[in-house]
Amino acid sequence: MTGRVEGKVALITGGGSGIGRATSLTLAREGATVLVTDYREDTAQETASMIVEAGGKARAMAQDVTDEAQWQAVFASLRATEKRLDIVFNNAGVSNNGILLSDTTLEQWRHVNAANVEGVFLGTKYGIEMMAETGGGSIINVSSIYGKVGAIGSVSYNASKGAVCLLTKGAALECGKEQNGVRVNSVHPGFIETGMNAERLKDNAARDWMISRTPIGRIGMPQDIANGVLFLASDESSFITGAELVIDGGFTAI
Ligand SMILES: NC(=O)c1ccc[n+]([C@@H]2O[C@H](COP(=O)([O-])OP(=O)(O)OC[C@H]3O[C@@H](n4cnc5c(N)ncnc54)[C@H](O)[C@@H]3O)[C@@H](O)[C@H]2O)c1
Repeated sequence: MTGRVEGKVALITGGGSGIGRATSLTLAREGATVLVTDYREDTAQETASMIVEAGGKARAMAQDVTDEAQWQAVFASLRATEKRLDIVFNNAGVSNNGILLSDTTLEQWRHVNAANVEGVFLGTKYGIEMMAETGGGSIINVSSIYGKVGAIGSVSYNASKGAVCLLTKGAALECGKEQNGVRVNSVHPGFIETGMNAERLKDNAARDWMISRTPIGRIGMPQDIANGVLFLASDESSFITGAELVIDGGFTAI
C-alpha cells in the first residue's frame, strides 16, 4: 500500500535522529509533506534533505520544544507556508535513566519534564488549535513502556511519560466534546535502537537484559515505531482516539 498519508502535512519534533527521523522518512514516503524540527538544526536539515533526495517533500526548522515562543514561530511558519496541518508527532524527548530518586535533583527532574511533558503539552495545544481550523487531524504523542510501568533509576522519566499518556486522553476527550475532528493518541515504545540508548546498548550485559525482557527476542528498531505512527497518522485509524499503541515486543505483557 502506498500513499497512506497522501496530501497531508506533518510536523515532527525531534526529527533529527532515531524514531523521529525514521517516522519523518516513512510519512514522506507515504505522501506527506513533512516539517522536521529539532533543537539540533543540522540534524533536522539532514533528515529533510534525505526526504527531498528520495523525491519527497520536506523542510526543516530549529525548535526547542521547551520554549513556547519557538512553538509559536513554528506554527506561524506552517500557516504562512503549508497553510494547513494534518499530523503532529510530538516525539522530541530526553531521558536520564540510571539516576535513583534519592540522587535526582530538582534541576534534573525539571529538565526531563520540560522536554517530555511541557513540550508535548505545547505541541498538543497548538496542534489542536491549527488542525481544528481545517477540519481536524491526528496528534501522536510519544510516551514509553515507562509511562505504563515503573523502572529503577527512572523516576523523572516515569513521571514524564505517565503524564504524556493521560495528557493525551484528556486532550482526546476535549476534542471529542468540541467535535473538531482532531484525534489524539499515544505510542509506547519498548527498547529501541537509537541514540538515546546507544551507550547502554554498547554494554553486552545491558543489551542481553533488554532482549531477555522482550518476549519477541530482539531490540526494536526505529522503523517499528514509525510503522505504528503511520497507522495512527492515516485515516485507517479514524475511529481511534485517546488510545495507547504499545510497540514493545511484549515487554509490558509480562
Ligand atoms: N529509544 C527508546 O528505547 C525509547 C523508548 C521509549 C520511548 N522513547 C521516546 O522516543 C522519543 C524519541 O527518542 P529516540 O529514542 O529516537 O532518541 P534520540 O535521542 O535518537 O532522539 C531524540 C531527538 O529529540 C531531540 N530533542 C531532545 N530534546 C529536545 C528539545 N528540547 N527540543 C527539540 N528537540 C529535542 C534530540 O536532538 C533528538 O534528535 C523520545 O521521546 C523518547 O523518550 C524512546
